[in-house]
Amino acid sequence: MTALTVPALARHKVRDGAAPLVMVTAYDAPGARVADAAGVDLILVGDSVAMVVLGYDDPLQLRTEDIAYHVAAVRRAGPAALVVGDLPWLSYHVSVEESVRNAALLVRAGATCVKLEGGRKRLPMIRAILDAEIPVMGHLGLTPQSTNAMGGFRVQAKDVDAARALVADAVALAEAGCCAIVLEGIPDVVADLVTASIDVPTIGIGAGAGCDGQVLVFHDLLGFEDRVRPKFVRRYAELGAAATEAIARYAADVRTGAFPTDAETYHVSAEVADRLRDG
Ligand code: KIV
Repeated sequence: MTALTVPALARHKVRDGAAPLVMVTAYDAPGARVADAAGVDLILVGDSVAMVVLGYDDPLQLRTEDIAYHVAAVRRAGPAALVVGDLPWLSYHVSVEESVRNAALLVRAGATCVKLEGGRKRLPMIRAILDAEIPVMGHLGLTPQSTNAMGGFRVQAKDVDAARALVADAVALAEAGCCAIVLEGIPDVVADLVTASIDVPTIGIGAGAGCDGQVLVFHDLLGFEDRVRPKFVRRYAELGAAATEAIARYAADVRTGAFPTDAETYHVSAEVADRLRDG
């Protein structure tokens, strides 16, 4: 498979005959290797790492250095997929200069593109990051970094005014030069409208089948995350249950003495063993 470049990503529209884009999150080298071997187009080092790996209830505790650490681990796996680094909350809200520096941290860690949440009010930061030659992916709808302002993780753009505002945000982001836009937690009709209104791809999560691609969180699709299960998550494996069962068998083997066996043990020659035993 030819690796996806940012210009190719920005042109990728299902209405032009392209196959839907496949994005999945990953946060470490084994995850990136698994995703890449499966042939995904993009790997998102998302701030969802806060919830699915680090045990938080929202992504608000993450700093840019935390995402950079995970981006670097993903990059070390050498994936062919395009690596997107998620700018965490407050890394692009304070000033244009800070936003560019934080985006650059993720690029230096190994991201090809950065993602940030929000619509027209983020345009000054988006333009500055793009001016620094760093590709930007937008993220609209249910934006987890706004969880407190939104009153929780809630489906967005359910009325006409909010839906129209979201479409206007998407058009503004695309015109500013974003190479793709993630649409999260919005009704399918709104996602379809956005997808038809812009020339860069939409990548949906809980936004219906009409987007130019889909993204799911690694731990959700593999069945590792049990605390929250939104209806848009389809589980393709039950690796959490499989891992528990495997570790329980290991524990039983240790307790009964069935592990380790002689073949799983290092030995010295009989002569060295004898001398050691004789003191
Ligand atoms: O952090 C993340 O995993 C995301 C996806 C849900 C789009 O932003």
